[in-house]
Amino acid sequence: MTQHQHPGHVDPVLAAGDEPMSNASANGYFGDILEARISRRAMLRGSLAAAVAGAMATQLPFGSAFAAGGASAPAPSLGFKAIPVSAADSVVVPEGYRVSAILPWGTPISGDMPAFSLDASGEAQGHQVGSHHDGVHFFPLEGSSRDGLLVMNHEYVEPRFLHAAAAGLALDRNGFPQNADGSRDDDQVLKELNAHGVSVVRIREGSDGQWQVVEDARNRRITGLTPMRLAGPVAGTEHVVTKYSPDGTMTRGTLNNCAHGVTPWNTYLAAEENWAGYFANSDAEIDRRQARYGIQTRDTGRYQWHRAESGADEFVRFDASSRGATPAEDYRNEPHAFGWMVEIDPLDPAATPVKRTHLGRFAHEGVIFAPAVEGQPVVAYSGDDARFEYIYKFVSARPYHAATADGSLLDEGTLYVARFHEDGRGEWLALAPGENGLTPENGFADLADILVNTRAAADQAGATKMDRPEWGAVDPATGQVYFTLTNNTRREAGDEDAANPRAENHFGHIIRWQEEGSHAGTRFAWDLFVLAGDGDDSQPILAGEPLGQEAIFANPDGLWIDADRRVWIQTDISESVMNTGIFEVFGNNQMLAANPETGEIRRFLTGPVGQEITGVVTTPDQRTMFVNVQHPGATTEAEAFAAGELVSHWPDGGSAIPRSATLVITREDGGIIGA
Ligand code: FEO
Ligand code: CA
Ligand code: CA
Repeated sequence: MTQHQHPGHVDPVLAAGDEPMSNASANGYFGDILEARISRRAMLRGSLAAAVAGAMATQLPFGSAFAAGGASAPAPSLGFKAIPVSAADSVVVPEGYRVSAILPWGTPISGDMPAFSLDASGEAQGHQVGSHHDGVHFFPLEGSSRDGLLVMNHEYVEPRFLHAAAAGLALDRNGFPQNADGSRDDDQVLKELNAHGVSVVRIREGSDGQWQVVEDARNRRITGLTPMRLAGPVAGTEHVVTKYSPDGTMTRGTLNNCAHGVTPWNTYLAAEENWAGYFANSDAEIDRRQARYGIQTRDTGRYQWHRAESGADEFVRFDASSRGATPAEDYRNEPHAFGWMVEIDPLDPAATPVKRTHLGRFAHEGVIFAPAVEGQPVVAYSGDDARFEYIYKFVSARPYHAATADGSLLDEGTLYVARFHEDGRGEWLALAPGENGLTPENGFADLADILVNTRAAADQAGATKMDRPEWGAVDPATGQVYFTLTNNTRREAGDEDAANPRAENHFGHIIRWQEEGSHAGTRFAWDLFVLAGDGDDSQPILAGEPLGQEAIFANPDGLWIDADRRVWIQTDISESVMNTGIFEVFGNNQMLAANPETGEIRRFLTGPVGQEITGVVTTPDQRTMFVNVQHPGATTEAEAFAAGELVSHWPDGGSAIPRSATLVITREDGGIIGA
């Protein structure tokens, strides 16, 4: 069969790793307010970090607000020696630590345990670890720190590394092989869909200290094809009626699963982030249920799955054009079944995954639950990772009771969106019928309409436009909530606000807040934790001085706070800029640890070439840490790929193709990681 390269149009919605910008609302940037808070003179001098620090020190009530809430606790130790930045094709950890890689893409975990090979079939991929490892959690079996189910997301794929047929083609990281007429080979499409989703895999530490896959009935792949149930207010409504599910209760697959969350009842939630790019839609008119998420009139999807040769139903559904007489005869509503949080019970391999629609529909980066309190509502925070999008939280209607809690708690409650006031206070705006302008007169018919149009509802409510909200984390001692804001170079001078204080925000920042009363409350006090950047343009707010060489970083993305309160920060400098220009000083993507009381930050890990570090968790005893390495080698140019010259061969080395994989990190003395 003739295969040639993808034509290579650069549609920003389709490009891997790009976060489409589609917020055209007039919601405030607080530009005027900022001008009052940051001295004009300082801005004109170009010393923005200093200006922001000055504003923080003098005008934000954060310190007093937090102090009033008693929000401080013993600081965690950062007992390791910081490592330098790196541009090497290897993983580096501090002195006294060991690191190895397990579960690379293609590792067999279920079925007949099909061995990894570049020409493995699409069906085999459905029994192997997926690609592009992201959010990860360790579910201990019987409380063990040596035996458990590792559950992880597979955000997307690089088809050129997936298919032996791609060898010799000039494909970049977004490219894929296709036939001369633009159709796609069915098995390649199947392999790409099966390399997405989630892996559930039992791993155990052997007597030699090495972690191995254990064949187990719970090992499971959830993919872009797995049947899933819809639950919550959008389930069974006209929004999600399709040919596959005329009653709107079911859908197939989960895509672009970035970060995750773990519920208080010990299930796993996988986020659906940049799902919009996978859909084509040739309709002349595209309503806000798709347009507000970046789907425009176009006959192309990210990987052209709707052009599979067979025309099989599970592939053509990625064309959302109105082709039938009614929505029950086509897939015009298929995109409305994406953009949710998907609940998976890793301990029950027969359980159908459930899309929990009351948590809202957007580019979910992940979700973080506040510690559950018996008799109190369940609270979960989630960010919408696109430029100028919002931070949300869900508060359950029913109280949490450990003995009976399950996912149905997520089906009734209130979704809120955050507004950050310029004075360091903030409020949660309910996205509920009749509240905050969400009325039929303003175009919101009912709760299902609000939820399927979460972004539009948040626009209406007047939320604060953020610089790409990524992961969140909750400090277990103080209850403070942290969120990474990775960057936003589209924020122009004059559009800054106190919570997003930098125009052309290349490097990102981390915000945190303390809820007033409880996590279920509607008011909070907030501050910035750190403005990321290099030695000239960075500011850890507590520590005061710009970041030193041991701590410079850019584009915070992954975030996790361990049981001792270490704040683990992971970076995702884009493939398009890493190791070039103003980003050169940061080297390859990395992970650092921060002290939440002092603001001190130290670099703990650097990754191989072309990747991002994303996803981190430890075993319950904190003596083994798992960290994911995603898309090594992604910076290989198309011509270099054609010539077989790859910029990374991690983790296998030699001339191997690079593969996403999971790091296992331990201390030589068996101690707690980071202490
Ligand atoms: Fe999938 Fe926003 O990173
Ligand atoms: Ca991410
Ligand atoms: Ca990212």
